[in-house]
Amino acid sequence: MKIAIPMEIRPDENRVALDPESCRKLIQLGAEVALEAGAGARAFFPDQAYQEAGVTLTADAAKLLGEADFIAKVNAPLPRADGSHEAELMRPGAILLASLFPTRNLDAVARLAARGITAFSTDCIPRTTRAQAMDTLSSQANIVGYKGVLLGAAALPKYFPMLMTAAGTTLQAKVFVIGCGVAGLQAIATAKRLGAAVSATDVRPEVKEQIESVGGKYVGIELNQSAQAGGGYAAELSPEDKARQAGMLANHCALVDMVITTALIGGVVAPRLIDEGIVRSMRPGSVLVDLGADGGGNCTLSRLGETVTVGGVTLLAPLNLPATVPFHASMMFSRNLLNFITAFWNKPEASFRLDWDDELLKGCCVTRDGQVVHGPTLKAIQA
Ligand code: NAI
Repeated sequence: MKIAIPMEIRPDENRVALDPESCRKLIQLGAEVALEAGAGARAFFPDQAYQEAGVTLTADAAKLLGEADFIAKVNAPLPRADGSHEAELMRPGAILLASLFPTRNLDAVARLAARGITAFSTDCIPRTTRAQAMDTLSSQANIVGYKGVLLGAAALPKYFPMLMTAAGTTLQAKVFVIGCGVAGLQAIATAKRLGAAVSATDVRPEVKEQIESVGGKYVGIELNQSAQAGGGYAAELSPEDKARQAGMLANHCALVDMVITTALIGGVVAPRLIDEGIVRSMRPGSVLVDLGADGGGNCTLSRLGETVTVGGVTLLAPLNLPATVPFHASMMFSRNLLNFITAFWNKPEASFRLDWDDELLKGCCVTRDGQVVHGPTLKAIQA
């Protein structure tokens, strides 16, 4: 089986889908692996490291995509500078494995279906224990939580820790994290390690214990209606619960130096939790880091991908943060893909086994036999 790793062409992307170590393991399993020359360079995986692992290099992306049986990518296919489209350069019948975020990339999904590609999206993998090692949402969200705190700390006109120096004592910064899934818990842990006092909230009840286990103080409201949507995902709050939560957020945001939001509904869409009133109630000099930016933003004033100041409050809404830590983000992403591929590896034939009886494989399949087969994506297309 020929596995291809093209260069990512999304402008803000620095990651590569498979690192040299994962390529070496796939080659040991009998795969032929080819890389577009330079595809790992921005993640600090040089061509030479791939060559040493047994990977073939090519400068011709169109040929690479056209000849592959299996394509490993980070992002959904995009139009290329020469007017072609990555999806349309792939061979009909080929398999694509990437983090497609299919409900956000309907054009790419439609092209993949029309081209007859069997596409699997790692962000749609059902959340089971077996799937944890393949879950790119978790591995990349960890990086989002970590880097989000560092960006916020760099924008804050204060120290995080309490420091007793000859010149005087500084107070510990107060950080409030809203949404405590993988990114939020990592944000709490990172802010704690930097010395801040951290409080945090979420709408899923089991999260209280998790917040406390990483050193945060839980702040919450009793919900009238469950916000559990299954698989660890949150559902949208009822209008009544939303109003009660807004009151709590308004009170608490005014007391802290930094607010970090990571809330997502169904793992995809960011609920608007922070409005202008809440931002204006925050102290001048404080910072809001909207880590829901990739999902549209948790703050109504966020300018996605930009930093703005409102009433002395700095609002950051960084996009695609995993790409800013490309070495480790690629390494983790690559391990997720390797675990996925090896789980369905047909050893005697050295090929990928399309086991349609397997719930994991079926659950993350987005296009197959010329059709879009992923429920939420079909819904988004119809909407
Ligand atoms: P996510 O990225 O979908 O959402 C982030 C957080 O925002 C969640 O904790 C959610 O409850 C929260 N949220 C949503 N609406 C909110 C609101 N109005 N106010 C405050 N918070 C709000 O979540 P993520 O990071 O994907 O993980 C959620 C859970 O799923 C975690 O407990 C994680 O351990 C579990 N998980 C399990 C996996 C597996 O078993 N394979 C893989 C990934 C996650």
